Amino acid sequence: MNAMTKSSKIKVRVVSEKDLADIFRIELEAFGKEAYPKWVFQQGAKLLRRTFMVAELDGKAIGYVMAHVKGKIGEIISIAVHPQHRRKGIGELLMEEIIRKLQSEFGVKRVKLQVKVSNKPAIKLYEKLGFKIGARLKEYYPDGEDAYEMYLDL
Ligand SMILES: CC(C)(COP(=O)(O)OP(=O)(O)OC[C@H]1O[C@@H](n2cnc3c(N)ncnc32)[C@H](O)[C@@H]1OP(=O)(O)O)[C@@H](O)C(=O)NCCC(=O)NCCS
Repeated sequence: MNAMTKSSKIKVRVVSEKDLADIFRIELEAFGKEAYPKWVFQQGAKLLRRTFMVAELDGKAIGYVMAHVKGKIGEIISIAVHPQHRRKGIGELLMEEIIRKLQSEFGVKRVKLQVKVSNKPAIKLYEKLGFKIGARLKEYYPDGEDAYEMYLDL
């Protein structure tokens, strides 16, 4: 966690239905045409509530991370931070919190995710947290780009 996050008023907590409009705006800004549809977040807020977390600043969600658990494996479904709030440690804080929760509340032993091979900021973030690059998944995304599967053993 960097100094700015530590001293700021950012709070990480589980999602509430009231966050969904902010979250969907962040998703659209981050992923454009490849954004998950709104219903994914609506369902996520109902079904995954404990593993769907937001970073809140002054009553507004400015970032989120959504994960799910299958057995001893936790999978990050999506993470994004509002463009105006990037590079302040918020993505890292969200990842640290979700990993801690997956481990302590769900007994998860491995966290995995997929990321576009060109997505340097995200790959750097995951590597900083100790994730390793695993398989390369050919043409994983709708635009034909490959994904790296990345994993963190806990
Ligand atoms: C990836 C993302 C969530 C990172 O969030 P963030 O709050 O800006 O990241 P942080 O400030 O916590 O950065 C933590 C670390 O990640 C890495 N990082 C983040 N952004 C980076 C960038 N633009 N370039 C290089 N490294 C970067 C750095 O290692 C950084 O540590 P440092 O500040 O000590 O150098 C954000 O860029 C985002 O929302 N991107 C669009 C959505 C997306 O691609 N999601 C991932 C899909 S798999």
